[in-house]
Amino acid sequence: MSAAPSPTGPLRHFLQLRDFSADEIQYVLSRARIIKDKFKRYQPHHTLHDRNLAMVFEKASTRTRVSFEAGMYQLGGSVIYLTTEGSQLGRAEPIEDTARVISRMVDLVMIRTFEQTRIERFAAHSRVPVINGLTNEFHPCQILADILTFVEHRGSIHGKTVAWIGDANNMSYTWLQAAELLGFTLHVSGPEGYRLDPRRTRVQPATTLREFSDPRQACEGADLVTTDVWTSMGYEDENEVRRRAFADWCVDAQMMSAAHEDALFMHCLPAHRGEEVMGEVIDGPQSVVWDEAENRLHVQKALMEFLLLGRLS
Ligand code: CP
Ligand code: NVA
Repeated sequence: MSAAPSPTGPLRHFLQLRDFSADEIQYVLSRARIIKDKFKRYQPHHTLHDRNLAMVFEKASTRTRVSFEAGMYQLGGSVIYLTTEGSQLGRAEPIEDTARVISRMVDLVMIRTFEQTRIERFAAHSRVPVINGLTNEFHPCQILADILTFVEHRGSIHGKTVAWIGDANNMSYTWLQAAELLGFTLHVSGPEGYRLDPRRTRVQPATTLREFSDPRQACEGADLVTTDVWTSMGYEDENEVRRRAFADWCVDAQMMSAAHEDALFMHCLPAHRGEEVMGEVIDGPQSVVWDEAENRLHVQKALMEFLLLGRLS
Protein backbone atom coordinates (compact mmCIF):
# COMPACT_ATOMS: atom_id res chain seq x y z
CA MET A 1 0.00 0.00 0.00
CA SER A 2 1.18 3.51 -0.76
CA ALA A 3 0.25 6.64 1.14
CA ALA A 4 2.43 8.80 -1.08
CA PRO A 5 1.20 11.29 -3.68
CA SER A 6 -0.29 9.60 -6.72
CA PRO A 7 2.21 8.41 -9.32
CA THR A 8 -0.29 9.47 -11.99
CA GLY A 9 0.39 13.18 -11.53
CA PRO A 10 -0.03 16.07 -9.12
CA LEU A 11 -2.22 15.58 -6.07
CA ARG A 12 -5.87 16.26 -6.89
CA HIS A 13 -8.75 16.92 -4.52
CA PHE A 14 -12.52 17.02 -5.11
CA LEU A 15 -13.65 19.76 -2.74
CA GLN A 16 -16.17 21.31 -5.10
CA LEU A 17 -17.51 20.36 -8.51
CA ARG A 18 -15.44 22.94 -10.34
CA ASP A 19 -12.21 21.37 -9.10
CA PHE A 20 -12.82 19.18 -12.18
CA SER A 21 -13.12 20.31 -15.79
CA ALA A 22 -16.24 19.46 -17.80
CA ASP A 23 -14.19 16.84 -19.61
CA GLU A 24 -13.09 15.22 -16.34
CA ILE A 25 -16.68 15.15 -15.09
CA GLN A 26 -17.76 13.49 -18.33
CA TYR A 27 -14.96 10.95 -17.91
CA VAL A 28 -16.04 10.11 -14.33
CA LEU A 29 -19.67 9.75 -15.47
CA SER A 30 -18.79 7.46 -18.35
CA ARG A 31 -16.51 5.39 -16.12
CA ALA A 32 -19.33 5.15 -13.54
CA ARG A 33 -21.57 3.61 -16.19
CA ILE A 34 -18.96 0.93 -16.96
CA ILE A 35 -18.44 0.19 -13.25
CA LYS A 36 -22.21 0.07 -12.65
CA ASP A 37 -22.70 -2.33 -15.54
CA LYS A 38 -20.04 -4.69 -14.16
CA PHE A 39 -21.57 -4.45 -10.68
CA LYS A 40 -24.98 -5.45 -12.07
CA ARG A 41 -23.38 -8.47 -13.74
CA TYR A 42 -21.53 -9.46 -10.53
CA GLN A 43 -18.17 -8.99 -12.23
CA PRO A 44 -15.35 -8.18 -9.79
CA HIS A 45 -13.74 -4.79 -10.30
CA HIS A 46 -10.80 -4.53 -7.91
CA THR A 47 -8.95 -1.53 -9.29
CA LEU A 48 -8.23 -0.18 -5.78
CA HIS A 49 -6.95 -3.45 -4.34
CA ASP A 50 -5.20 -2.82 -0.99
CA ARG A 51 -6.04 0.90 -0.98
CA ASN A 52 -7.47 2.42 2.17
CA LEU A 53 -10.07 5.19 2.48
CA ALA A 54 -10.55 7.17 5.71
CA MET A 55 -14.06 8.62 6.09
CA VAL A 56 -14.43 11.50 8.54
CA PHE A 57 -18.00 12.36 9.49
CA GLU A 58 -18.65 15.55 11.44
CA LYS A 59 -22.37 15.33 10.51
CA ALA A 60 -24.84 12.43 10.24
CA SER A 61 -25.15 10.29 7.13
CA THR A 62 -26.82 7.21 5.68
CA ARG A 63 -26.19 7.30 1.92
CA THR A 64 -22.74 8.87 1.94
CA ARG A 65 -21.37 6.46 4.49
CA VAL A 66 -22.86 3.31 2.95
CA SER A 67 -21.98 4.25 -0.63
CA PHE A 68 -18.35 5.12 0.14
CA GLU A 69 -17.87 2.16 2.46
CA ALA A 70 -19.52 -0.42 0.20
CA GLY A 71 -17.88 1.17 -2.84
CA MET A 72 -14.36 0.98 -1.47
CA TYR A 73 -14.78 -2.69 -0.50
CA GLN A 74 -16.20 -3.45 -3.94
CA LEU A 75 -13.08 -1.89 -5.49
CA GLY A 76 -10.91 -4.25 -3.45
CA GLY A 77 -9.92 -1.72 -0.79
CA SER A 78 -10.89 -1.06 2.80
CA VAL A 79 -12.22 1.82 4.91
CA ILE A 80 -11.78 3.47 8.29
CA TYR A 81 -14.81 5.27 9.72
CA LEU A 82 -14.20 8.27 11.99
CA THR A 83 -16.58 10.70 13.64
CA THR A 84 -15.95 13.95 15.47
CA GLU A 85 -17.08 12.50 18.79
CA GLY A 86 -15.17 9.26 18.33
CA SER A 87 -11.89 10.92 17.40
CA GLN A 88 -9.64 13.62 18.76
CA LEU A 89 -11.38 16.15 16.48
CA GLY A 90 -14.07 16.29 19.17
CA ARG A 91 -11.38 17.20 21.71
CA ALA A 92 -10.09 20.14 19.68
CA GLU A 93 -7.19 18.53 17.81
CA PRO A 94 -6.55 20.99 14.96
CA ILE A 95 -7.89 19.89 11.58
CA GLU A 96 -4.42 20.53 10.09
CA ASP A 97 -2.78 18.06 12.48
CA THR A 98 -5.53 15.52 11.84
CA ALA A 99 -4.90 15.86 8.11
CA ARG A 100 -1.13 15.46 8.46
CA VAL A 101 -1.54 12.28 10.49
CA ILE A 102 -4.40 10.55 8.67
CA SER A 103 -2.93 11.23 5.25
CA ARG A 104 0.33 9.49 6.18
CA MET A 105 -1.63 6.32 6.89
CA VAL A 106 -4.26 6.00 4.14
CA ASP A 107 -4.53 6.54 0.39
CA LEU A 108 -7.64 8.67 0.23
CA VAL A 109 -9.83 10.72 2.59
CA MET A 110 -13.53 11.63 2.42
CA ILE A 111 -14.83 14.30 4.79
CA ARG A 112 -18.32 15.51 5.68
CA THR A 113 -18.04 18.68 7.70
CA PHE A 114 -19.32 22.22 8.28
CA GLU A 115 -17.55 25.20 6.62
CA GLN A 116 -15.88 24.73 3.24
CA THR A 117 -12.82 26.41 4.74
CA ARG A 118 -12.51 23.47 7.12
CA ILE A 119 -12.18 20.90 4.32
CA GLU A 120 -9.86 23.29 2.46
CA ARG A 121 -7.62 23.47 5.53
CA PHE A 122 -7.62 19.68 5.73
CA ALA A 123 -6.75 19.34 2.03
CA ALA A 124 -3.96 21.91 2.30
CA HIS A 125 -2.23 19.63 4.83
CA SER A 126 -3.07 16.28 3.24
CA ARG A 127 -0.65 14.07 1.32
CA VAL A 128 -3.50 12.21 -0.35
CA PRO A 129 -6.63 13.20 -2.31
CA VAL A 130 -9.52 14.60 -0.27
CA ILE A 131 -13.18 14.24 -1.30
CA ASN A 132 -16.00 16.50 -0.13
CA GLY A 133 -18.77 14.30 1.26
CA LEU A 134 -20.86 17.45 2.00
CA THR A 135 -20.07 20.80 3.53
CA ASN A 136 -22.34 23.74 4.34
CA GLU A 137 -21.44 25.17 0.93
CA PHE A 138 -21.31 22.20 -1.47
CA HIS A 139 -22.32 18.56 -2.06
CA PRO A 140 -20.42 17.66 -5.24
CA CYS A 141 -20.64 13.83 -4.97
CA GLN A 142 -24.43 14.10 -4.88
CA ILE A 143 -24.54 16.25 -8.00
CA LEU A 144 -22.33 13.75 -9.87
CA ALA A 145 -24.90 11.07 -8.96
CA ASP A 146 -27.80 13.31 -9.97
CA ILE A 147 -26.31 14.05 -13.36
CA LEU A 148 -25.51 10.39 -13.95
CA THR A 149 -29.16 9.64 -13.12
CA PHE A 150 -30.41 12.31 -15.53
CA VAL A 151 -28.16 11.02 -18.31
CA GLU A 152 -29.33 7.43 -17.78
CA HIS A 153 -32.99 8.45 -18.03
CA ARG A 154 -32.90 11.29 -20.55
CA GLY A 155 -29.49 11.49 -22.24
CA SER A 156 -27.19 14.52 -22.17
CA ILE A 157 -28.07 17.31 -19.74
CA HIS A 158 -26.45 19.91 -22.04
CA GLY A 159 -29.01 22.53 -23.09
CA LYS A 160 -31.64 21.25 -20.65
CA THR A 161 -33.37 23.14 -17.80
CA VAL A 162 -33.21 22.15 -14.15
CA ALA A 163 -35.58 23.78 -11.62
CA TRP A 164 -34.31 24.07 -8.06
CA ILE A 165 -37.19 24.68 -5.63
CA GLY A 166 -36.39 25.66 -2.05
CA ASP A 167 -33.40 26.60 0.04
CA ALA A 168 -30.24 28.24 -1.31
CA ASN A 169 -28.11 25.51 0.24
CA ASN A 170 -25.12 23.28 -0.52
CA MET A 171 -27.09 21.41 -3.21
CA SER A 172 -28.31 24.50 -5.04
CA TYR A 173 -24.84 26.07 -5.23
CA THR A 174 -23.42 22.79 -6.54
CA TRP A 175 -26.18 22.62 -9.16
CA LEU A 176 -25.12 26.11 -10.22
CA GLN A 177 -21.51 24.99 -10.72
CA ALA A 178 -22.80 22.00 -12.72
CA ALA A 179 -24.95 24.24 -14.93
CA GLU A 180 -21.98 26.45 -15.74
CA LEU A 181 -19.61 23.53 -16.37
CA LEU A 182 -21.97 21.32 -18.36
CA GLY A 183 -23.99 23.95 -20.22
CA PHE A 184 -27.56 23.78 -18.94
CA THR A 185 -29.93 26.35 -17.43
CA LEU A 186 -30.76 26.47 -13.73
CA HIS A 187 -34.08 27.94 -12.59
CA VAL A 188 -34.12 28.73 -8.87
CA SER A 189 -37.00 29.72 -6.60
CA GLY A 190 -37.01 30.15 -2.83
CA PRO A 191 -38.62 32.47 -0.28
CA GLU A 192 -37.19 35.86 0.49
CA GLY A 193 -34.34 35.61 2.97
CA TYR A 194 -33.38 32.14 1.69
CA ARG A 195 -32.34 33.03 -1.87
CA LEU A 196 -28.97 32.65 -3.55
CA ASP A 197 -26.30 35.07 -2.41
CA PRO A 198 -25.44 37.26 -5.44
CA ARG A 199 -21.77 37.15 -4.37
CA ARG A 200 -21.82 33.42 -5.14
CA THR A 201 -23.81 33.42 -8.38
CA ARG A 202 -21.43 34.89 -10.94
CA VAL A 203 -21.60 32.37 -13.80
CA GLN A 204 -20.80 32.38 -17.49
CA PRO A 205 -22.92 32.98 -19.44
CA ALA A 206 -25.15 34.94 -17.05
CA THR A 207 -28.24 33.31 -18.65
CA THR A 208 -27.15 30.01 -17.01
CA LEU A 209 -29.11 31.13 -13.93
CA ARG A 210 -32.69 32.43 -13.81
CA GLU A 211 -34.28 33.29 -10.48
CA PHE A 212 -38.05 33.31 -9.82
CA SER A 213 -40.14 34.39 -6.86
CA ASP A 214 -42.95 32.03 -7.95
CA PRO A 215 -41.92 28.35 -7.75
CA ARG A 216 -44.49 27.37 -10.40
CA GLN A 217 -42.90 29.74 -12.87
CA ALA A 218 -39.50 28.26 -12.04
CA CYS A 219 -40.85 24.84 -13.00
CA GLU A 220 -42.08 26.00 -16.40
CA GLY A 221 -40.04 24.39 -19.15
CA ALA A 222 -38.01 22.28 -16.70
CA ASP A 223 -36.66 18.86 -17.69
CA LEU A 224 -35.88 18.13 -14.07
CA VAL A 225 -37.47 19.47 -10.87
CA THR A 226 -35.43 19.03 -7.73
CA THR A 227 -35.55 20.09 -4.11
CA ASP A 228 -34.05 19.35 -0.70
CA VAL A 229 -34.88 19.72 2.98
CA TRP A 230 -35.82 23.20 4.17
CA THR A 231 -33.38 22.92 7.07
CA SER A 232 -29.94 21.53 6.35
CA MET A 233 -27.71 19.89 8.94
CA GLY A 234 -26.19 22.49 11.22
CA TYR A 235 -29.16 24.89 10.92
CA GLU A 236 -31.62 22.98 13.14
CA ASP A 237 -32.24 25.99 15.41
CA GLU A 238 -33.97 27.69 12.46
CA ASN A 239 -36.34 24.78 11.85
CA GLU A 240 -39.62 26.40 12.93
CA VAL A 241 -38.94 29.75 11.24
CA ARG A 242 -37.97 27.97 8.06
CA ARG A 243 -41.07 25.75 8.11
CA ARG A 244 -43.22 28.87 7.97
CA ALA A 245 -41.07 30.68 5.39
CA PHE A 246 -40.98 27.72 2.97
CA ALA A 247 -44.66 26.71 3.19
CA ASP A 248 -45.34 27.70 -0.46
CA TRP A 249 -42.22 25.92 -1.75
CA CYS A 250 -43.48 22.35 -1.43
CA VAL A 251 -43.10 20.45 -4.71
CA ASP A 252 -46.56 19.07 -5.45
CA ALA A 253 -48.39 17.66 -8.48
CA GLN A 254 -49.44 21.15 -9.57
CA MET A 255 -45.84 22.32 -9.63
CA MET A 256 -44.77 19.23 -11.55
CA SER A 257 -47.51 19.85 -14.11
CA ALA A 258 -45.90 23.23 -14.90
CA ALA A 259 -42.72 21.42 -15.97
CA HIS A 260 -42.29 19.40 -19.18
CA GLU A 261 -44.59 16.40 -19.34
CA ASP A 262 -41.64 14.02 -19.11
CA ALA A 263 -39.78 16.02 -16.43
CA LEU A 264 -37.98 13.97 -13.79
CA PHE A 265 -38.12 14.62 -10.05
CA MET A 266 -35.02 14.27 -7.86
CA HIS A 267 -34.24 14.74 -4.17
CA CYS A 268 -30.86 13.94 -2.62
CA LEU A 269 -32.64 12.47 0.44
CA PRO A 270 -33.42 12.27 3.31
CA ALA A 271 -36.86 13.69 2.40
CA HIS A 272 -39.72 15.02 4.50
CA ARG A 273 -42.98 14.19 2.77
CA GLY A 274 -45.52 16.98 3.28
CA GLU A 275 -42.77 19.59 3.70
CA GLU A 276 -40.47 20.18 0.73
CA VAL A 277 -42.20 17.51 -1.39
CA MET A 278 -45.57 15.79 -1.42
CA GLY A 279 -45.73 12.00 -1.35
CA GLU A 280 -47.60 12.07 -4.68
CA VAL A 281 -44.43 13.47 -6.30
CA ILE A 282 -41.58 11.67 -4.56
CA ASP A 283 -43.45 8.37 -4.72
CA GLY A 284 -44.94 9.12 -8.15
CA PRO A 285 -43.96 8.03 -11.68
CA GLN A 286 -41.68 10.99 -12.44
CA SER A 287 -39.52 10.43 -9.38
CA VAL A 288 -36.10 8.80 -9.84
CA VAL A 289 -34.91 9.26 -6.25
CA TRP A 290 -33.97 5.61 -5.68
CA ASP A 291 -31.85 5.46 -8.83
CA GLU A 292 -30.32 8.76 -7.73
CA ALA A 293 -29.40 7.35 -4.32
CA GLU A 294 -27.98 4.14 -5.83
CA ASN A 295 -25.87 6.12 -8.27
CA ARG A 296 -23.89 7.59 -5.38
CA LEU A 297 -22.27 4.16 -5.14
CA HIS A 298 -21.28 3.90 -8.79
CA VAL A 299 -20.19 7.48 -9.38
CA GLN A 300 -18.07 7.62 -6.23
CA LYS A 301 -16.30 4.40 -7.22
CA ALA A 302 -15.41 6.11 -10.49
CA LEU A 303 -14.37 9.24 -8.60
CA MET A 304 -12.07 7.37 -6.19
CA GLU A 305 -10.49 5.46 -9.10
CA PHE A 306 -9.92 8.70 -11.00
CA LEU A 307 -8.29 10.44 -8.04
CA LEU A 308 -5.95 7.52 -7.34
CA LEU A 309 -5.29 6.06 -10.77
CA GLY A 310 -6.14 8.78 -13.28
CA ARG A 311 -7.88 7.87 -16.55
CA LEU A 312 -8.22 4.15 -17.22
CA SER A 313 -10.23 4.12 -20.44
N1 CP B 1 -27.86 12.55 0.17
C1 CP B 1 -26.99 12.32 1.18
O1 CP B 1 -25.86 12.79 1.19
O2 CP B 1 -27.50 11.50 2.16
P1 CP B 1 -26.84 11.21 3.58
O3 CP B 1 -26.94 12.46 4.39
O4 CP B 1 -27.69 10.09 4.13
O5 CP B 1 -25.42 10.79 3.39
N1 NVA C 1 -28.84 20.08 2.28
C1 NVA C 1 -28.85 18.89 3.11
C2 NVA C 1 -28.40 17.71 2.33
C3 NVA C 1 -28.38 16.42 3.08
C4 NVA C 1 -27.85 15.29 2.29
C5 NVA C 1 -27.98 19.11 4.33
O1 NVA C 1 -26.90 19.70 4.19
O2 NVA C 1 -28.36 18.70 5.42
